[in-house]
Amino acid sequence: MSGLAIEAIGVKKEFGGKSKSPFTKAQVVKALRGVDFRIKVGENYCLLGPNGAGKTTFIRCILGLLKAEGSVRVLDHIMPDERNKIISSIGYMPQELSLYPDLSVKETMHFFGRIFGLRNQERKDSVKKLLNFFLLKQWKDSRVENLSGGMKRRLSLACTLVHNPKLLILDEPTIGVDPTLRLTFWDYFKELNEQGITIITTTHVMDEAEKSRLIGFMREGKLIAEGTYQDLRTKVPGKRKLVVETDLESSKNLADIIHTKCACQTQSKGFKLEVFYDDESIIDEILSQIREHTNIHSIQTVLPNLEDTFIYFSKSSKEVQEN
Ligand SMILES: Nc1ncnc2c1ncn2[C@@H]1O[C@H](COP(=O)(O)OP(=O)(O)OP(=O)(O)O)[C@@H](O)[C@H]1O
Ligand SMILES: [Mg+2]
Repeated sequence: MSGLAIEAIGVKKEFGGKSKSPFTKAQVVKALRGVDFRIKVGENYCLLGPNGAGKTTFIRCILGLLKAEGSVRVLDHIMPDERNKIISSIGYMPQELSLYPDLSVKETMHFFGRIFGLRNQERKDSVKKLLNFFLLKQWKDSRVENLSGGMKRRLSLACTLVHNPKLLILDEPTIGVDPTLRLTFWDYFKELNEQGITIITTTHVMDEAEKSRLIGFMREGKLIAEGTYQDLRTKVPGKRKLVVETDLESSKNLADIIHTKCACQTQSKGFKLEVFYDDESIIDEILSQIREHTNIHSIQTVLPNLEDTFIYFSKSSKEVQEN
């Protein structure tokens, strides 16, 4: 045993490129541009990236649902060739839910339990526990088609867990779930992880990603950075952030000016200007430059957050690609 839950090397995936018509050239989408990814058994890892970054495609390649270039091993098995040997150790919740509309909540959970070969009592116990946890007990006899979007997602998550998988792969698990329950879910994933289950999630919501031990940033088909939240944050130059509210409706031009004059990373957030700095001695210079162009309403200094970190790595990887 390697101790690795997943080892993916050089995974590339393109879509399109074959047009049926001789007059149109089909567009090729490079969804994955060579992803190397290793995680240990017992890890809690979140892939974070904007829409279209390649998260779902990568998950589907890991699971052997899509054929890709490169090599993938899951729990020491080669994918997709040895998929059948490990499928019952994996719980996968796809981004697009696939539930039968005419089954009841309880029937759906039993259905998934049977697929994974759970015996009668074992299945009943597991269904009961999950109905309670996901607050689905009162809906147990309702047909799936009558559930709200968030309830369907809760059910889908319960079905993913019904056979006690060792490896959980959850693609955008909390889309459509209300904000309070959303964070409860992430706490629950953490709890499952503490019980020894390896977890991989995807999201484009920053505060969700922060709940995982490791975070991988995905952008344009590449894994551009990974590490713990602390690791990632300390790699960003500018240990603190100055947030300045001004008279301007857009601080875009001002951000460029401060970037050039003070040699600091800047970000424009509508009427707010954010300036990253290491040394406090630069603050006076930044503020006097801003005052030359506009009035200042408020000033705050804060620690850079995960979004800042993501933007920093996105900019750096773009610069590397362009050079
Ligand atoms: N079956 C497909 N055929 C053609 N293009 C596809 C297909 N699946 C994905 N793509 C393209 O591959 C790229 C990556 O898509 P993917 O769904 O993996 O992104 P994602 O990071 O999961 O995004 P989201 O956050 O919106 O779920 C996108 O440009 C998408 O349009
Ligand atoms: Mg996706």
